[in-house]
Amino acid sequence: AVSASLREPILDWYAEHNRDLPWRRPEATPWGILVSEIMLQQTPVARVLPVWTEWMERWPTPEALAKESPGEAVRHWGRLGYPRRALNLHACARAITTDHEGRVPSTYDELLALPGIGDYTAAAVASFAYGGSHAVLDTNVRRVLARAVRGEEYPPKAPTAAERRLAESLVPPVGAPRWAVAVMELGALVCTARAPRCERCPVTSRCAWRLAGRPAHDGPARQG
Ligand code: ADE
Repeated sequence: AVSASLREPILDWYAEHNRDLPWRRPEATPWGILVSEIMLQQTPVARVLPVWTEWMERWPTPEALAKESPGEAVRHWGRLGYPRRALNLHACARAITTDHEGRVPSTYDELLALPGIGDYTAAAVASFAYGGSHAVLDTNVRRVLARAVRGEEYPPKAPTAAERRLAESLVPPVGAPRWAVAVMELGALVCTARAPRCERCPVTSRCAWRLAGRPAHDGPARQG
């Protein structure tokens, strides 16, 4: 299919252009990956980096954080914004400690049952920490697929069943986590919400939106 031909160029691009981020390294723990995904939900990488590093030094395991009061978690959230996430992470640490013997669970369903973990974070942790095959639909991925496959500048406001089917159809049989992070990175670095760098895009020649002349989205401006 047309969309499967997107995979190889995007994976090759990622091999060359990926950022070396600590939660992507082989030594990253499932807990470190979970913490990173919650921090990255609403905050850019550059601001997350120092807070994540300090957080992981202070609380390298769920048990370490679970012993603290919720207020301590908020105090060390720094300026990441949306501090409710610090409380959610603290509640996750306690749930992991009491219900999962201190180990971050590995399945999508168990992850989804943790406090403050939604579809995106459950899929991301199951995939990046445990190698699971999941469609990881964050705003970057949704935008890349909207443009490259659907020919639209922006994805719909809320994820649709059609987007999910498309994303699932693209998950490769081997290497699902690498594919997920590669599309995410393309959206973060090249296929950006504003002023996308199509001249640097590995799939520009087969991008439906580009081929249509990059039509502007009509209707109310959308974020993402
Ligand atoms: N690497 C893995 N997950 C990420 C995310 N949500 N944002 C940026 N880089 C990531």
